[in-house]
Amino acid sequence: EKGGYDHFMLKEIHEQPKAITDTYRGRLLRNEALIKMAGIEDNLNKLLNANRIIIVACGTSWHAGLVAEYIFEDLARIPVEVEYASEFRYRNPVITENDVLIAISQSGETADTLAAIKLAKSKGAFVFGVCNVVGSSIARETHAGAYTHAGPEIGVASTKAFTTQVTVLTLMALRLAKAKGSISNSDFHRHLLELELIPQHVENVLKSDSHIKSIANTYKHSNNCLYLGRGYNFPVALEGALKLKEISYIHAEGYPAAEMKHGPIALIDENMPIVVIATKKGHYEKVVSNIQEIKSRKGKIIAIVTQGDTTVKALADHVIEVPETLEALSPLLNTIPLQLLSYHIAVLLGKNVDQPRNLAKSVTVE
Ligand code: F6R
Repeated sequence: EKGGYDHFMLKEIHEQPKAITDTYRGRLLRNEALIKMAGIEDNLNKLLNANRIIIVACGTSWHAGLVAEYIFEDLARIPVEVEYASEFRYRNPVITENDVLIAISQSGETADTLAAIKLAKSKGAFVFGVCNVVGSSIARETHAGAYTHAGPEIGVASTKAFTTQVTVLTLMALRLAKAKGSISNSDFHRHLLELELIPQHVENVLKSDSHIKSIANTYKHSNNCLYLGRGYNFPVALEGALKLKEISYIHAEGYPAAEMKHGPIALIDENMPIVVIATKKGHYEKVVSNIQEIKSRKGKIIAIVTQGDTTVKALADHVIEVPETLEALSPLLNTIPLQLLSYHIAVLLGKNVDQPRNLAKSVTVE
């Protein structure tokens, strides 16, 4: 059942190249320079005329929503707000018929997300679902949607569901950007080309497994861990921290790198591991200076860098290399080493990675 892997989580991490391919298959038509998604084509005008997009989700799916905020605003120039479903539903939100709500959920059964959908529908908003489980409550309750096609996710800690959600949302943003004319034809084509390369890049990152395991061994007894990223990779930092908390029970925080000096820098000493996403595109120079600030306070740096990087390599205690890609696609690669890092720490500590204490795969009560 686990296909030769020790845990479902590891199997699902390794399934990501295939899962991402399954997600864009039949939708990304590079030769025709097209993205085709039925749920989008059928509702194109509603989506294009939206005043704004409100994204609601919980947990890891909420992190996918945060990545989508960068992609939709950057490429499609549509204003986006991302909300925890549980907060959104109870704060008397302003919703109009010109709003589009995107609900993201692996299980399609999360109680708060479902309630947020019902609220938005009652105010006349158009509701679009991004679900993994076919025929789930959320898939049925939404006006339209797009499945992630990740296949069953058994491990409680979400892995392939996240990367496939980001893939679907990227396809959506590109489709809308093309329709709006907010992206040039050459840029659009470049994104299709690079997106098609992501599965083999992920395969490449997975080869760092034993290197990541040795880093995990060095830091497995830490009490705390900080994750930093900027821009598109700020949500990746949040997701990395959540993965570590969930399965290893080590306290971890994700932060936008620039916020460090507004508080968390006080935590940094020689016992604090800090995972920094420092890939080449996207505020690289600024991240490098954040790394220098951490080093001068003796923090231990585990940096995710672009293959061939030398600047960060000279500063960091450990580096994990990922292939170069477009900035908008970088979360799809940078997430992978963080999944493996938490996995190995949890296994080395003897924790139950597939069924961490106190957690359920789908949270059907609020
Ligand atoms: C994280 C995790 C949870 C879920 C959250 C939302 O690894 O498993 O945070 O992401 O409960 O679940 P779905 O996506 O099913 O709505």
